[in-house]
Amino acid sequence: MSSTTRSYVNIQTPIPGPNAKGLLDKKEQHVPRGPFTTVPTFAVKGEGALLTDVDGNTFIDFAGAIGTLNAGHCPPKVVEALKEQLDKYIHPCFHVMMYEPYVELAEKLNQITPGTHAKKTFFLNSGAEAVENAIKIARKYTGRKAVISFERGFHGRTLLGMSLTSKVKPYKYGFGPFAPDVYKMQYPYYYRAPQGMTPEALDQELLKKLEEFFLVEVAAEEVAAIIMEPVQGEGGFVVPSKTFVQGVKAICEKHGILFIADEIQTGFGRTGKLFAMEHFDVIPDIMTMSKSIAAGLPISAVTGRSEVMDAPEPGQIGGTYGGSPLGCVAALKVIAMMEEENLLEKANQIGKTVISRFQTMQEKHAVIGDVRGLGAMVAVELVLDRESKTPADELTAKIVAECNRRGVVTLSAGIFKNVIRILSPLVITDAQLAEALDIIEEVFGELA
Ligand SMILES: Cc1ncc(COP(=O)(O)O)c(C=O)c1O
Repeated sequence: MSSTTRSYVNIQTPIPGPNAKGLLDKKEQHVPRGPFTTVPTFAVKGEGALLTDVDGNTFIDFAGAIGTLNAGHCPPKVVEALKEQLDKYIHPCFHVMMYEPYVELAEKLNQITPGTHAKKTFFLNSGAEAVENAIKIARKYTGRKAVISFERGFHGRTLLGMSLTSKVKPYKYGFGPFAPDVYKMQYPYYYRAPQGMTPEALDQELLKKLEEFFLVEVAAEEVAAIIMEPVQGEGGFVVPSKTFVQGVKAICEKHGILFIADEIQTGFGRTGKLFAMEHFDVIPDIMTMSKSIAAGLPISAVTGRSEVMDAPEPGQIGGTYGGSPLGCVAALKVIAMMEEENLLEKANQIGKTVISRFQTMQEKHAVIGDVRGLGAMVAVELVLDRESKTPADELTAKIVAECNRRGVVTLSAGIFKNVIRILSPLVITDAQLAEALDIIEEVFGELA
């Protein structure tokens, strides 16, 4: 517990407090340990960038439900639209009797996603489901079976999602066999490039390897798609160069391979543009979206070139709950909020503030090896020393836990579990942002 007076964070009890402890006991008895948890307490209220728990403690949320809440907790416009929708109908099921918000949202996403070509969109429930369907569509369209993803990539916990993902523990360990015909390529990690190698040289080497890959692993004409996160999320907020992303797209075009951008974590303003692909001037053939599309309602989307999206026959894609009316109306409001509340500009401001504060901390704390990000998708990578860059995973876990105890909800990431990532709602106020960063700085001061 911190003794400092705060304006927003209000931690009255050790975390977990007495009410949370009772619920934790119950949770341990009734819920398997598999679904991981971060802050050992239970929410009762969320508003903007603030979360209150069952013991009356208030937190500043720097996790935003793992990047799901760019529009914040319970944005009033979304809540109002949801209430209105609840008075009309909850779920006729698009496959039974269609409803307008589904078509309206599809039209909107076709307009706002990169590229002016004809597009089509359909909806699912989760990120992993969107990824699964993007691959199904790519296979059907191309008539090819192989798929390439990238090392450190994360695409979900379903069988194909796990197969495309490359962080073995915990995501894949013990769950094989995985889906066949899935291959991994290297994605540039400039901070950990071989000593003396420039980012440009690394890009060239990896692009060359991709071409060689077609000679030794799988023929290019058997590859349906390459799926790529424009910035690796779970992999540690690793930002590639424009040259690399454009190089991958050029290779796709050369060989008739579809380029799938997995914008599930990077989308809806997180990186300071509506979609991160816009930073790279690359127009994907297919895009997957989910987190932050609808302020926490479970909905995901696949958008792509019309001719590609129309490859599956009626009934081959979809699902009972896909594109629920509640998700659709929430998403339409979130998209409107992006413009009305200047959330892209806000993302860039947040990014600048967080990067600058972390850079100042980096001057004091040798443990901060790298500060990086794009827009408001910012992270610090912790190392035991800057020379060896040995990952400081234990310290990272301690810092994250202590920030959480002191009222700033933070998350780690990275293949080595040594990255602290910031995914605060974009509606966070300047004062809340400053207060949360003060607390993080205080924790670094004491533990690093
Ligand atoms: C880039 C990316 N793809 C896919 C997923 C999977 O989404 P979900 O957890 O909704 O299945 C995630 C989730 O973190 C993600 O970040």
